[in-house]
Order: sequence, then structure tokens, then C-alpha cells
Amino acid sequence: MALLEIADLSVSFPTQDGLVKAVDHVSLKIREGRKVGLIGETGCGKTVLGMAIVRLLQSTARIKGRIAYRGRDLLLMKEGEMRRLRGREIAMILQNPTTSLNPVLKVGDQIAEAIRLHLEKSREEALNLAVKMLEEVHMPDPARRARQYPHELSGGMRERVLIAMALACRPSFIIADEPTKGLDAKTKMQIIDLIKGATQEKSLMMITHDLGVAGQICDQIAVMYAGEILEWGSSEEILSDPCHPYTRGFINSHPSRGLVPIPGSSPSLIDFPSGCKFHPRCALATDICKTIHPEMKALEEEHSVRCHLCT
Ligand SMILES: Nc1ncnc2c1ncn2[C@@H]1O[C@H](COP(=O)(O)OP(=O)(O)OP(=O)(O)O)[C@@H](O)[C@H]1O
Ligand SMILES: [Mg+2]
Repeated sequence: MALLEIADLSVSFPTQDGLVKAVDHVSLKIREGRKVGLIGETGCGKTVLGMAIVRLLQSTARIKGRIAYRGRDLLLMKEGEMRRLRGREIAMILQNPTTSLNPVLKVGDQIAEAIRLHLEKSREEALNLAVKMLEEVHMPDPARRARQYPHELSGGMRERVLIAMALACRPSFIIADEPTKGLDAKTKMQIIDLIKGATQEKSLMMITHDLGVAGQICDQIAVMYAGEILEWGSSEEILSDPCHPYTRGFINSHPSRGLVPIPGSSPSLIDFPSGCKFHPRCALATDICKTIHPEMKALEEEHSVRCHLCT
């Protein structure tokens, strides 16, 4: 049984302009111990997908489909049960350390609070554990830093606080949303090493724009575009032998591959293009691409793609 099995998941938000379809019929399996990268351009629905798993989307979100964790549908779970699972079993490192930390609480207290939500600990025990967690994520001078407020820490240190918080209750599955965004190259390497080390025995979903990061950490990569998964496979396959024109374009837009941008921009999530959602930007598009929405098809056991032209 897969650790996490997402089946035909759709998430939409009613807005004044219409229904924003942020996640559109996504199916994805994560096996125990696997590290899966979720990559794609800004606004393609990565965070919404992650937040749907931990059920932290705002109440206006319309969610359809199934998200089974160890065989149990998270979408059908009572809120209390979900709260117990969140943090203990599944933890999410939220995308923006500046907004996801409380500015008026010392970081040690914030980690301690997260611990006390799940573990029976006194305030003092939880605070000691918080300092230990900061030590574990290689925070310099952890006891002093625990007594500081988020604004007194650097971006890399704030990211470490979020990671410490996520790891504190020893979850089996971690969703990390852009944990290296905005960090300088050296700090980025340290955070990658930290996540790699901390998740050795765990399952991970790594949301990132950065193919380099995905390649270093993940066994498998899912490529998302306008709410859909367009290609999925082992990291080696996806990075060295991608098939979907979008994946190829996305790889070529990476700084290490020459920074060639994909022409055009992502479609509106309210009105999708007909046929393949990528066809208006695809240099190879033919008539069928403009009219028929491609199904996901398997090229190999560990490689599937949603493109009429890949065989
Ligand atoms: N509460 C909401 N109401 C309306 N639209 C929303 C809401 N939350 C997200 N969206 C829309 O859903 C789409 C997907 O957003 P999401 O944050 O998942 O993108 P992302 O892939 O994580 O982007 P980034 O790489 O910039 O973090 C965006 O178009 C966003 O505007
Ligand atoms: Mg995001």
C-alpha cells in the first residue's frame, strides 16, 4: 500500500472572477520512504496541493477526490482526528518563514507550543525539547536563539526554525514547501543537507521551483502545470530524459541549463485552453493538441506523461 495516495483530487476556489481551479484531477502515489519532488512554475497549484493534504486550506476551498494516508481518507477524517495526525504523522514546512512564524512570540516558545499540541509535556520540558530541536537543525547557539523573535533571525535561521517545528513530533511524512527559496547559495546547500539528513528514514514531498534541489533530494519528480501533473518519473529520468515539452522547457529555464525561458505564460486557472493546457506555449503543438485533452500514459514503469506527442 502506498503511504499517500492522491486520487483524482481537484481543488477550486470561488472568486469574483469565476472558479479558480488550482488543482485539477491530480493523482499521485508516494510510497513509504520515498522522496518526491513537486515542481512547476509559480501559481501552478503546488502549495494548494500540499495544503490540501494537511487540510489547511481556507474553508472556501472546494475539494473533490481522495487523499488516502496509510489507507485512510484524510478528507473524511473528523477535524480532531486530523489535528492529531497533523504534526505527529504528517508535518508541513510552510512556504514562507516570515509569515508562517508568529512575529510576537519567541521562536523557542513557538516550537514548544507545536510540541505541546501533540505530546504530553510541561512547558519547561517542551521548551527544553525545542532547544534540542534547534540544536538538531544546527542552529548556532540554540539556547540563546530560542529566546529570540523571528525578526532577530536570518532567513536561513528562520527556515531552520520551521524545520525544527516540523520535525519536533517525529512525523513519518513531511511536506516541505520551497524550503530553500530566497536563501543564498551556501545557506541553500546547508538546508538541503539538513533536510536530506533529517528525512533519511522518512517520506518527503518536496515542493520547489528549483530542479537542482529536487535532483539532490528526490527519488521521483512530478511536474505540475496549471493544476495538473504533466509528467512523473524517477528523478534521473525526468532530469536526463524528459519527454513533455513543458518539462524540457522548464529544465532549460534553470540557471544551470542556460536560463532559456518558456515563451508565453501559464494559462488562467479559470478558463483553461482547450485540448492540452500547454498547447498555446508549445512549439510542437499539432491539431490534436489543440482539441483533445491528453490522458496520462505510461512510457515505462517509472515514467508517465500527459502529451500526445510522447510515445
Ligand atoms: N484562497 C484562494 N483563493 C483563490 N485563489 C487561490 C487561493 N489560494 C490559491 N489560489 C490560486 O491557486 C493557484 C495556485 O496557487 P499556489 O499557491 O498553489 O501556487 P504555487 O504553485 O504554490 O506557486 P508558487 O510557486 O508561487 O508558490 C494560484 O493561481 C492562486 O492564485
Ligand atoms: Mg507555493
